[in-house]
Amino acid sequence: MNTLLLGSEKENIELAATFIKNGGVVGMPTETVYGLAADALNGEAVRKIFKAKGRPMDNPLIVHISDVADIEKFNLVSEFSDKARTLAEKFWPGPLTIILKSSDVIPNEVSAGLSTVAIRLPSHKIARKLIKESGTVLAAPSANKSGSPSPTTAQHVMNDLSGDIDAVIDGGMCDVGVESTVITLATTTPRLLRPGFVTEEEIEEVIGHIDVDDAVLFKLKNDEKAASPGMKYKHYSPKASVVLIKASDDAFVDFVNREFKKDNSICAICYDEDVKKLSSKTIPIGKADDFTTQAHLLFDALRQVDEQEDVTKVYAHCPKKHGVSMALYNRLIRAASFEVIEIE
Ligand code: TXA
Ligand code: MG
Repeated sequence: MNTLLLGSEKENIELAATFIKNGGVVGMPTETVYGLAADALNGEAVRKIFKAKGRPMDNPLIVHISDVADIEKFNLVSEFSDKARTLAEKFWPGPLTIILKSSDVIPNEVSAGLSTVAIRLPSHKIARKLIKESGTVLAAPSANKSGSPSPTTAQHVMNDLSGDIDAVIDGGMCDVGVESTVITLATTTPRLLRPGFVTEEEIEEVIGHIDVDDAVLFKLKNDEKAASPGMKYKHYSPKASVVLIKASDDAFVDFVNREFKKDNSICAICYDEDVKKLSSKTIPIGKADDFTTQAHLLFDALRQVDEQEDVTKVYAHCPKKHGVSMALYNRLIRAASFEVIEIE
């Protein structure tokens, strides 16, 4: 299959929508990461997403809508509760995914056999135009090969999926850079399943206390069932191994410089302030206290690791666990397969 790399003009969005109406799959920019979109109400089209990504079929997909009214129009859920409405009013359009009890129009491929469905109204103009133009709602996981870092540019999508999908719309680099916050309202107490740019603290301000699923911060035991199936898979990994360093900023620099003396094939994903102090190769992702920039650059940094020749090991600061940094921690700890070195 020849994958078209499209600009974001009206006629290209119309062309992409034609692919979707015909049961095809298209890479689309969103404010978080690029998604791989297909008609969410067409099970056969949705299966093509799993095939292109190499994604296990037991990992459900998010349904993207272009307007809150789509929930009713397409009869997506069995109940749109008051809490859901409150969250939607506060955070949509934007990087929050809400899990609700599904209706029976949701194909099994989308819900992976669960009785719930994940719904998101993205704020990205191109994504919303594409959804509207397609005349349906779109199932879209991140547009990477399963296991690799989520794509934040159209080129990342092409690198992973060229030849496997119909087209990619180039909307430039994604603003947020990490995937949406996922919260389920299908449990008695709302539960955070994946941290993102919308934080636990911000959600609690509007709906009160929420639980944070264990899988957000901890490694699941082998026999433990993941509330969000995606959390059980190895994720976000470059080919080189990633190790997190829990240390003061100075101790991080000392550690990396000492390791570099022993092995010059290491590199560091670090803060801007570290660059001058480190003797190894560096991939800076923003200032130490600037979580927004770090989120914006993280996945590109993980992809850059594989572009560096001979790099076998990457050291990164272990992120803080609050605010937007909870999302950084959640992604990096998986990229590192939970390997953390703690230095006093
Ligand atoms: O920002 C995003 O959310 C991006 C863009 C493209 O919108 N999409 C995305 O999709 O990250 P994906 O498939 O890579 O991640 C969706 C996560 C997975 O961990 C999946 O297991 C979980 O959401 N999920 C989806 N539906 C679910 C459900 N019904 N119950 C529990 N978890 C669900
Ligand atoms: Mg993904």
